[in-house]
Amino acid sequence: MVLTPSAIDFVTPLTLATLSKNRVYSDFTEDKDTGEWTNHVELGLWGDLMLIAPISANTLSKLASGACDNFLMATFLSAKCPVMIAPAMDLDMYSNAATQDNISILKKRAIQVLDSPSGELASGLSGKGRMEEPEEIGMAVEEFFTKKEPLKGKIALVTAGPTYENIDPVRFIGNYSSGKMGFAIAERLAEKGAQVTLVSGPSSLSPIHPNIKIIRVTSALEMKAACEAVFTSTHYTIMAAAVADYRPENSSDQKIKREKKGEFSINLIPNPDIIKALGIKKSKDQFLLGFALETNNALENAKKKIDSKNLDAIVLNSLEDEGAGFGVDTNKISIIDSDNKITRFELKSKSDVALDIVDFIITRTIT
Ligand code: C5P
Repeated sequence: MVLTPSAIDFVTPLTLATLSKNRVYSDFTEDKDTGEWTNHVELGLWGDLMLIAPISANTLSKLASGACDNFLMATFLSAKCPVMIAPAMDLDMYSNAATQDNISILKKRAIQVLDSPSGELASGLSGKGRMEEPEEIGMAVEEFFTKKEPLKGKIALVTAGPTYENIDPVRFIGNYSSGKMGFAIAERLAEKGAQVTLVSGPSSLSPIHPNIKIIRVTSALEMKAACEAVFTSTHYTIMAAAVADYRPENSSDQKIKREKKGEFSINLIPNPDIIKALGIKKSKDQFLLGFALETNNALENAKKKIDSKNLDAIVLNSLEDEGAGFGVDTNKISIIDSDNKITRFELKSKSDVALDIVDFIITRTIT
């Protein structure tokens, strides 16, 4: 909680802290004796939503102009989260053109301005300018967070990374997949409220969001078993792993020794197509999305995969595009749905690409 210097004339920080059981900030320095610094930037970055209620005509004008003469304003200017305000002032101050212009400016900057209903005001006059009822403010905050989490209650399965197919205890057949795309998708799904199981092949990455449960696997067969164990309970499955198509027919328990002369060959047998196996089991309430990394005839091949694997959509990234694909932080994708409709996206960071993919899924299944 943050109090402006004027707010302290109405209520002391001690009263608010005691009643709310929360820490109350009102100044840049917490402790005037030690000069301990209160970091307004940290506070602005920490919040998921900044609510200013009530907000006076004076603070409202400062929000519009960007003035920074107190702790609240410094926090506001450094806040990265959305801001919601509940104006409260006398009716003439509220209807004044300056105040109304300031409100328009703030709305254009995507600040959510709550209504100021009519009623009895502090001056004794009656009219528009009262702070919105606390219950209504509470509901607006609740709505903000529900909208932010459209996947609340949904269960998602994501695969990521490569698979390693053992030749012997120290050698394997693998690929250069880093897992970045799948991990980014898992994060975005969790941020939107989903409970995510992330089945990852060998990767140096770790999930951040607490709603992601990671299952680390090595081979395609292990990945298949982990996916099948959770698939029936999922609403969304996104297979971003680069699964090895083949594995050695026999993997040796002992390190294979170098022969003095002659050739050495490994007989490879096909791995199961995990997504295809899930596609066969898929019910009509489940959404299954695959990835296709193509070097030629990209669109045609991607469309074929939708049918052959019973997918709802496929994300196509073409190695022909510079900055797209393995190892790099960026990707350029198109999403093709089961009606063959193509949505193309610009080259973006994998984190932003993940958001596009998750937003696509939400639009197709929820809104
Ligand atoms: O057929 P292709 O390997 O190009 O298909 C790619 C898609 O299929 C990706 O979503 C990938 O995760 C998935 N896949 C799979 N099991 C395999 C091979 C690919 O789940 N054995």
